Amino acid sequence: MKILLLGHRGMLGSDILYQLGRKYEVTGLDMDEIDISSPEQCRKAIDENTPNVVINAAAYTNVDGCEKERDLCFAVNAEAVKNIAESCRGKNIRLVHFSTDYVFDGKGKEPYTEDSPCHPVNVYGASKLAGELYLQELSNNYILIRTAWLYGKNGKNFVRTILEAARTKNKLEVVDDQIGSPTYTKDIAAAVDLLLERNITGIFHITNRGSCSWFQFTEKILQEAGIAGVKVLPIKSDQLSRPAKRPHFSVLSMQKFIRVTGKTMQPWQLALQDYLQK
Ligand SMILES: NC(=O)c1ccc[n+]([C@@H]2O[C@H](COP(=O)([O-])OP(=O)(O)OC[C@H]3O[C@@H](n4cnc5c(N)ncnc54)[C@H](OP(=O)(O)O)[C@@H]3O)[C@@H](O)[C@H]2O)c1
Repeated sequence: MKILLLGHRGMLGSDILYQLGRKYEVTGLDMDEIDISSPEQCRKAIDENTPNVVINAAAYTNVDGCEKERDLCFAVNAEAVKNIAESCRGKNIRLVHFSTDYVFDGKGKEPYTEDSPCHPVNVYGASKLAGELYLQELSNNYILIRTAWLYGKNGKNFVRTILEAARTKNKLEVVDDQIGSPTYTKDIAAAVDLLLERNITGIFHITNRGSCSWFQFTEKILQEAGIAGVKVLPIKSDQLSRPAKRPHFSVLSMQKFIRVTGKTMQPWQLALQDYLQK
């Protein structure tokens, strides 16, 4: 299998490169080599590389930044998906793409399924939803993975931010009114591998198992890292006044993934241990 991986230097992209590069012929392109918001550059990359599979792990992922840079955010998260899907069209190329729990408004109380209605509450979520719609309209050979709260070896992420903050502060204030599923990018890379290997297509919700608030996640990070003496105080989202609103409850149901693959994901607490050990 020949794979073209867009965004291979990103947090998820780099773990996908490591996972799939051991088995398949994977070519990675990132910012330095391609601008996925250019239709010509997408067409050229896909025509030159003649892949069987294109994996798009490139995105504009700064959720607060999206509120200010709306045009750039839509160009990368929505229009680029159109460019890539159009470039793959009629060539029997499978397209793997990633979206987010932030396509949901978070007003629900039960985990969201793949069929739950989408109502994003911020620009990032709206741009990712627009990308999803282009993918579904333009491709009949895709894997769309909605995931959430990612952390991994190669990227700015919440776990790293907390560990860095704990070095200099003895008190951390963290929101306890947003509930989601922290997810290790290495586990998502393995799930992508599984879906490709089994020749499965469609929309899937995939995260590590279980859920917590950012406050609970912080307490666990400090506990697992063996950091004592840092007090974690719960606060509410509106005390932070960040540019982008966040959904209060964005847990994704993995029933479909479990039913179709017969596999599940490890609990978020074990994934965190795994990450911290590495
Ligand atoms: N991070 C999360 O918590 C999270 C949660 C749910 C879903 N997701 C989704 O998961 C996927 C991977 O996220 P991630 O956190 O791994 O992203 P990331 O670390 O921000 O990596 C994205 C990569 O895309 C590159 N890129 C940005 N604009 C580009 C463009 N116009 N052309 C080519 N490359 C471009 C970035 O380069 P630069 O670094 O140079 O900009 C970066 O290398 C995304 O689809 C994201 O929406 C992420």
